[in-house]
Amino acid sequence: MSSSYDPLLDSNIQSSNTNKVLDLAKHAENKRALIVQAGLLVLVLTILHAIFTHPIITFFAPHPILNSLGLVFLAHALLLTQPPPISPVHKTLSGRIHGILNTTAVVLFLTAFSSIFYNKAIHASPHITTWHGLFGITTYTLLSLILLFGISIYWFPVKVFGSVAKAKSFYKYHRIAGYFTLTLASLTILLALDSDYNNNVLHISYTVVGIAVTAIWGGLVLGLTPSRLGFI
Ligand code: HEM
Repeated sequence: MSSSYDPLLDSNIQSSNTNKVLDLAKHAENKRALIVQAGLLVLVLTILHAIFTHPIITFFAPHPILNSLGLVFLAHALLLTQPPPISPVHKTLSGRIHGILNTTAVVLFLTAFSSIFYNKAIHASPHITTWHGLFGITTYTLLSLILLFGISIYWFPVKVFGSVAKAKSFYKYHRIAGYFTLTLASLTILLALDSDYNNNVLHISYTVVGIAVTAIWGGLVLGLTPSRLGFI
């Protein structure tokens, strides 16, 4: 006979407790995703407000706008794959959408780069002369490489790595590089605030963007499962 003091023997109580724990975990996850999304919304609105309340510089304006939109896609690609998959169908679908969102993010980031590069070229300004520029070019390069790496693991595992199992063993490096580059992208945005153009013209608030970027970065990093990085 089972007793309510002995949950191991009472499968109803045990499963109701498990459900409660799962509900709490889901609730915490949703809250974290909302914090990330609130940070993204504040970032995008702050940048749009700064750009459209000043004279538009045709080839500069797309740079901050498309970069912040790139971050929106990148953040959602990460949010989507953070909860461990609950079924093979979930795993396949979330992997596919993760790839599509990240491809979109990289297209937006590289278009943002082309616009600032062209803007500098037509004004005969030198390239990569600031910490923002240096962190930025490193972010673009790493994101593009991580995307190619992810596409190879997911869509061409046998061709590139010889077998599906071998390809899967590289996922942890893809994840580590992904979170490292997210950190670089976050720092790049903060460094952009110290550009002459922001300090003299746009005046985008350090405090508002600082809080938004911390919410985005913090919310995403807190969603990391350390065991999936291969350290534990
Ligand atoms: C993750 C987001 C971002 C990345 C990866 C990034 C990347 C870059 C890169 C690589 C350059 C140098 C281009 C060259 O020298 O040819 C640059 C320049 C610039 N960016 Fe960004 N950027 C980002 C976000 C922003 C934002 C949000 C602003 C808003 C103010 C901004 C403002 C500028 C300005 C004013 C320059 C010219 C001055 C300089 O080279 O530092 N960027 N960016």
